[in-house]
Amino acid sequence: MDIQDTGYLTIALPKGKLFGISSELFAKIGYTADGLYEKSRKLVITNDEKKIRFIITKTADVPTYVEYGAADIGIIGKDVLMESGKDVYELLDLGFGRCHLMMAVPQSQKRAKLTSYAHTRVATKFPHIAERFFNSKGMQMEYIKLNGSIELGPIVGLSESIVDIVETGTTLRENNLEEIAYIMDATARLIANRVSFKMKFERIRQMTEDLRTILESGEDK
Ligand code: PRP
Repeated sequence: MDIQDTGYLTIALPKGKLFGISSELFAKIGYTADGLYEKSRKLVITNDEKKIRFIITKTADVPTYVEYGAADIGIIGKDVLMESGKDVYELLDLGFGRCHLMMAVPQSQKRAKLTSYAHTRVATKFPHIAERFFNSKGMQMEYIKLNGSIELGPIVGLSESIVDIVETGTTLRENNLEEIAYIMDATARLIANRVSFKMKFERIRQMTEDLRTILESGEDK
């Protein structure tokens, strides 16, 4: 197998929350491959008959694989895509993986005004998005980049606040944190490498239309 074989369409799927629903969505348009499941340790799974190759990557790395053309197509949350700043085409809003980004603080230490948090420390997986948000409020902050369990930051005194995603609100509730500022909504997006989009235009266009049809018919539910 030549991983660079241009006859194949390479699709980057993120491990984690988006994996299951993404692979099921592709299966509905006939894009599937034997052994495509999240717990597998196999990183490249190929369907030679359909000339499709799935690569399984860390969530935050999907935009990188797509920007460099190591994958033609990828699925990634808008939050991670924006944070990455990668130069890719966004083809479709897939609608699932809905969440929002926000700022939260411990309930017991809530201050009266957002601006009174200026010059304090904020723990986040999204320092670029957070900085843009606080800049828009005229606030300078100290950003502490974490890779997970962000909510722990203010509980143990690492930071005064967090900027993170909320899906169900359970993590905030269970850790006595309160949302004090909304930043942006996010859903999963279908993205494409800019060169692949031109070189494999018909195939990518057809695939995008097939996915759109499934999403609009509600069959993805
Ligand atoms: C994300 C996010 C929150 C949580 C929000 O973490 O960072 O911690 O989900 O979801 P909820 O509102 O439904 O509770 P994730 O599960 O991706 O794990 P992580 O903490 O390792 O980043």
